Amino acid sequence: MNSSRKRVLSGIQPTADSFHLGNYLGAVKQWVALQETHDAFFCVVDLHALTVETEPKLFRNRTLLAAAQLIALGLDPVRCTLFIQSHVHEHNQLAWVMECLTGFGEASRMTQFKDKSQKSGSDRTVVGLFTYPILQAADILLYQPQYVPVGEDQRQHIELTRDLSQRFNSRYGETFVLPEAYIIKGSAKVNDLQEPTSKMSKTSDSAAGVIDIMDAPEINAKKIKSSVTDAEREIRFDEKNKAGISNLLTIYASLTGKSISESEADFAGKGYGDFKSGVAEVVTDYFAPVRKRTLELLEDEAGLLKLLKTGSEKAEAVASQTLTKVYDAMGVVPRGK
Ligand code: TYM
Repeated sequence: MNSSRKRVLSGIQPTADSFHLGNYLGAVKQWVALQETHDAFFCVVDLHALTVETEPKLFRNRTLLAAAQLIALGLDPVRCTLFIQSHVHEHNQLAWVMECLTGFGEASRMTQFKDKSQKSGSDRTVVGLFTYPILQAADILLYQPQYVPVGEDQRQHIELTRDLSQRFNSRYGETFVLPEAYIIKGSAKVNDLQEPTSKMSKTSDSAAGVIDIMDAPEINAKKIKSSVTDAEREIRFDEKNKAGISNLLTIYASLTGKSISESEADFAGKGYGDFKSGVAEVVTDYFAPVRKRTLELLEDEAGLLKLLKTGSEKAEAVASQTLTKVYDAMGVVPRGK
């Protein structure tokens, strides 16, 4: 770890049997690049995933699967600090402090909470979903990062984190840095293949619109080939009128490293069928080795846990320092020696 580097922190939930293309292009792809230039902390936020009731064996498998996928996608546990959130107890401890600083109305205005609780109704909405963004703020503030690399949908949670950071500092003295969202414009929002104006999401109504990176190549190729487009013939980026084609262009450009105009040029004069086949080939070729590597990593569970233990020790060293600073600033009496 090079301390002159700026710090970044981000997290991902282990709520599915695979990350989807939105998770990768909106977040993880940036993380892989940032570990080369920043002091980078990344965690599998298993405590956040407890807001969704999951069978324990499945929950356990998904947590390990998430960590394995992150490594297979290019996170190197030597070049970054990779850990499981629940292994660092300070996350829950700082979350309580932050809950005591957050207004009820302020938490009620979080759009992700509003959407999810409206969908399930108040009797089936757990309190953990309400306090979810506050735990997220604690995840971030514990590590004093300058940047938080996330997709567009997380912007409001980062704003709340910034408000809490400033509130704490003005009440108890300069303690936290003010983190900024780090959002890459082009791929910050990958949309559903069947509903190209809504974001690709693991809670989508139809699995046909979501590309899971752990799925077999044939499945993903089929999904891309059946994606919703429009009645025109031209392959042109125009989010307003051609949401489906624009989404596929974003995916193609992000995975090949080409610009949108270079991507359009690759398919000039071609029809939608050829375009979809081209995108399908790029996607399946890109993720085939990732899938293979993930499965290999999962075969050696002890080895994987060892890598994660090293990460949680590095994370804990930073987190415990921050929590001590926070408790001291608030006048919480330390335990006698
Ligand atoms: P999660 O697990 O839902 O998503 C992980 C990351 O993937 C991004 N993402 C997308 N980006 C582009 N297009 C999409 N369709 C798309 N869908 C998901 C998300 O923006 C996210 O960056 N609350 C966070 C987890 C979290 C966290 C944190 C993040 C907990 N603590 C601390 C940063 C810092 C979440 O729901 O991630």
